[in-house]
Amino acid sequence: MGGWWDGAGEAVGFRLVHRLEISDLITAVDPHTGDRLPVRRDEVIRRLRANGDEHAAKIVAGLPTDQDGVLDPRAVDRLLISVHTELQRLSEELRIGERLLHLLGPLFTAIRATGGQSGPYRLVDVGCGLGYLIRWLAATNALGADVELVGVDLDAALVGEAEQLARAEGLDCRFVHGNAFDLPQAATVYVSTGVLHHFRGPALGEFFQAQAASPAQAFCHFDIAATRLAPIGAWIFHRARMRHPLGRHDGVVSAERAHSDETLLSAAAAPGIRPLLYEPRGAANPFCTTLRPIIGVRPHLEAPLRRALGRAERRLVGPEHLAEAAR
Ligand SMILES: C[S@@+](CC[C@H](N)C(=O)[O-])C[C@H]1O[C@@H](n2cnc3c(N)ncnc32)[C@H](O)[C@@H]1O
Repeated sequence: MGGWWDGAGEAVGFRLVHRLEISDLITAVDPHTGDRLPVRRDEVIRRLRANGDEHAAKIVAGLPTDQDGVLDPRAVDRLLISVHTELQRLSEELRIGERLLHLLGPLFTAIRATGGQSGPYRLVDVGCGLGYLIRWLAATNALGADVELVGVDLDAALVGEAEQLARAEGLDCRFVHGNAFDLPQAATVYVSTGVLHHFRGPALGEFFQAQAASPAQAFCHFDIAATRLAPIGAWIFHRARMRHPLGRHDGVVSAERAHSDETLLSAAAAPGIRPLLYEPRGAANPFCTTLRPIIGVRPHLEAPLRRALGRAERRLVGPEHLAEAAR
């Protein structure tokens, strides 16, 4: 599955080029083996400058290297763990757990009701970072005992920290270092938070196609809503809540890179998947809807999911009703 995580491989063009996230550039792993690859600081600085981001280049210039100019992997890990810890506070404030549960509860009700796949079920959080979502679901036992909770991340340091936190909290969940799509056991449902905008160009479609081609019944991926307010909202939020300049920088760049509703619905329309967007732009209050999910279900699950959602099903929109919802 090489090339999916290609935030670092973005082409540079004229004006429309998005800034790059520093955290995508300062670590590198072989997507097949999971092995850490050395990253040269001057190469990261060169790429950021070529992208017109002098501020980001200055942040990276302050990171320690060895005598060959390779970024110190331990210092990078410590930095990313601390930035993700601050990110977890944002997830708490934005009530990401509750918002995911609002959809996942009805989704598992629909899966259980249709009986196509018997339990136990498996929920896989793709790019779980410090595993906040999985740990929250385990702590609340909100999905029921028949749902196994698994967090997966390509970054060994983040997922190692997630595992330690889960053990310290005595939680019934597990964390795996590796590619979420190379697990020996298939997921019933894939979820993620804050991951989609990292996949650019064809990599976004490939991300959804891999899930469509797996035995999974559904996916539900939350990411920043691409509203006009998103970059300024992200700036205020990250300024107020994050201390490290890297976290502040990447938070704003994430909002700038957020995919539009149209892009997500079209990329998620993989074979055997009914793509649906919850709270699309126009149907949502941009002051409240900071993150919204793109959902994909096997077609037979749409009707039972809508029934299980009750009145909230009106907020679930397919590609054919997107324009209408925006009016
Ligand atoms: C911005 S972080 C988001 C972390 C977390 N979801 C959160 O909200 O705090 C994105 C993470 O996705 C991971 N990632 C990207 N593609 C992945 C894949 N195919 N399998 C596992 N992890 C992946 C990266 O290693 C990175 O740590």
